[in-house]
Amino acid sequence: VQREMSTLPRVYITRQIPPEGLKILRESGQVQFELWDSDDVPVPRKELLQKVKGVDGLVCVLTEKIDTELLDAAGPNLKVLSTMSVGFDHLSLEELKKRGIRVGYTPDVLTNSVAELTVALLLTTSRRLIEATHEAKTGGWGTWRTLWLCGHELAGSTVGILGLGRIGVAIAERLAPFKVKKFIYADVAPRPELASVINAEYDFLSVCCALTPETKEICNKDLFSKMKNTSIFINTSRGGVVNQEDLYEALSTGQIAGAGLDVTVPEPLPTSHPLFTLKNCVILPHIASASYATRNNMSALAANNLLLGLRGEPMIKELKL
Ligand code: DGY
Repeated sequence: VQREMSTLPRVYITRQIPPEGLKILRESGQVQFELWDSDDVPVPRKELLQKVKGVDGLVCVLTEKIDTELLDAAGPNLKVLSTMSVGFDHLSLEELKKRGIRVGYTPDVLTNSVAELTVALLLTTSRRLIEATHEAKTGGWGTWRTLWLCGHELAGSTVGILGLGRIGVAIAERLAPFKVKKFIYADVAPRPELASVINAEYDFLSVCCALTPETKEICNKDLFSKMKNTSIFINTSRGGVVNQEDLYEALSTGQIAGAGLDVTVPEPLPTSHPLFTLKNCVILPHIASASYATRNNMSALAANNLLLGLRGEPMIKELKL
């Protein structure tokens, strides 16, 4: 029986990615692709395992676990994986390396957007904006009061940046004009003694490191107990770098003043989660890179990485495995 219509490499895309990337793939004439045509629900795992069978390339987002099971299901044709994300904690790098699969990702294009959102979240948390709008809207706004809704200011403060990568630098650049007195950077190259680098000095601590075995739950009670009770904790990296029980404890006992989180474990965080009950915890639904420009750029970069990889050329942004 003659079945094969096209000899172009087959690609599966696990999400309806923004139009820029799809356009690049369509107009390349280089691949035939099928996609999970929704952005509202991720492709069910069972469907994904079916769809990847025999593909040459795969484009994914951070909701898909690319592990042994999935790579086995895909089989030996799979040569290129392109993730539309800068984070790669959803990928089993060892397995990918073992199988000689090349991996593209999307750093740089989202740095501005993530840094902007981090500053927004930091100010929202430290100046208690969510509480304030709630009070204004629900009748809590009485007379002007001298200490009502006071927060903590950046001017004259010490800001810690945990994870001195592209995003960490971009956050510091944006915070500097607020007249921060001192920045302390802690890099998170695999270093077991990292906890001791993080000391009590910070007024603000912004976490922007990758989630790796070394950074898993690195923000735990040891860290929070060393922070001042006026400190603000901000996380726009991955929820897994934080021990959320310890964070809840630190926030609810006044060990630290507030936290702003763009990322949690799990995602979405169930609405019944105790962190949602705290006034001093601002939780966003993983939107740091969510600007139209950035998401389109990420989509285009993911598409271009894939096409280059399939042609056997160097990708624009390729993970060294
Ligand atoms: C990433 O790219 O890893 C972010 O978490 C989503 O943009």
